[in-house]
Amino acid sequence: MKEKLELILKNATDEINNADNLQTLEDVKVKYLSRKGELNSIKKNLKDLSDEDKRIVGSFANTVSDKLFELISQKNDILYKKELDKKLNEEKIDITLPSDFRPHGKIHPLTKTINEITEIFQGLGFSVMPKEYSPEVETEYINFDMLNFPPNHPAKDMQDTFYTKVAPNVILRSQTSGAQIRQMLNQKPHVRVISPGRVYRCESVSARKNNLFHQIEGLMVDKDITFADLKGILNEFVRIYFGSSRPTRFRASYFPFTEPSAEVDVQCIMCGGKGCRTCSGTGWLEVLGAGMVHYNVLKNVGIDPEVYSGFAFGMGVERLTMLKYAINDIRLFFNNDTRFLNQF
Ligand code: DAH
Repeated sequence: MKEKLELILKNATDEINNADNLQTLEDVKVKYLSRKGELNSIKKNLKDLSDEDKRIVGSFANTVSDKLFELISQKNDILYKKELDKKLNEEKIDITLPSDFRPHGKIHPLTKTINEITEIFQGLGFSVMPKEYSPEVETEYINFDMLNFPPNHPAKDMQDTFYTKVAPNVILRSQTSGAQIRQMLNQKPHVRVISPGRVYRCESVSARKNNLFHQIEGLMVDKDITFADLKGILNEFVRIYFGSSRPTRFRASYFPFTEPSAEVDVQCIMCGGKGCRTCSGTGWLEVLGAGMVHYNVLKNVGIDPEVYSGFAFGMGVERLTMLKYAINDIRLFFNNDTRFLNQF
């Protein structure tokens, strides 16, 4: 039996030395040291020996088993380290490699137009109004009353307004004109500002109209400002914005907060003035409303209308963008379809 044990020790030691990975080592361990392993089968036969032999062989069997456990444990440490090194080497990350291609976002065409128009007016001496004068959730008082819309006057129906339940008479502003009021309450002439922003109207959505759109409000108040100044500034704006000589026309109009009032139309780019779906067959697209600031509006904000005069205008950002790039449906701006947005 002793010889058998010696043979086991020799064979097992050889196999442990030859094992070159953790799995093989584990197999060796099972083969010799598990419950059904070779060592245990010898230990099971000890009962047939004399007491004296039992002690000697039993003790030697334990020595062999201890020795094998020790050898396996040492070899295990070596192989474990070897495999870990191999794995770390194979999975090394090269942080200097260029990253995956990620498409870049683009500036939205409406933002682009707002930036462009802002720059034009800055070049004409206008500054941008502080944001706090131009809240999107506004009071009826600022949006209408202070702008000389008489109470319950049908003029209020010109702009179908979204009313909120926040508080009585709190609305989503239907126009950026309220910003004029806040500006003039906070700054006395000389005033020369623009204010871009979102406005809301309860209208049925179509190729020409959306519930949400953008306007840029303009305001200039000083001594001796006349309608000629208004025409001069707006003509200059149209010339710079469209680059070439796009036909425009001034039409007499009505707004409660200006007197006299006008609307400026630009010839439809889609049909060249012949009439199409985009311009409802008229050949023209209205891009802005304007006029001389009404006597009552100046009085409402505490500016003496006998001393000062001014003009104001409000332009539609979507319309101006559509005209410049020949876009025939306003809804395209709000669908977030990258095939459309990527073209700008
Ligand atoms: N607020 C008007 C609208 O939304 C546009 C407008 C007209 C603005 C005349 C003005 C103005 O400042 O003077 O239809």
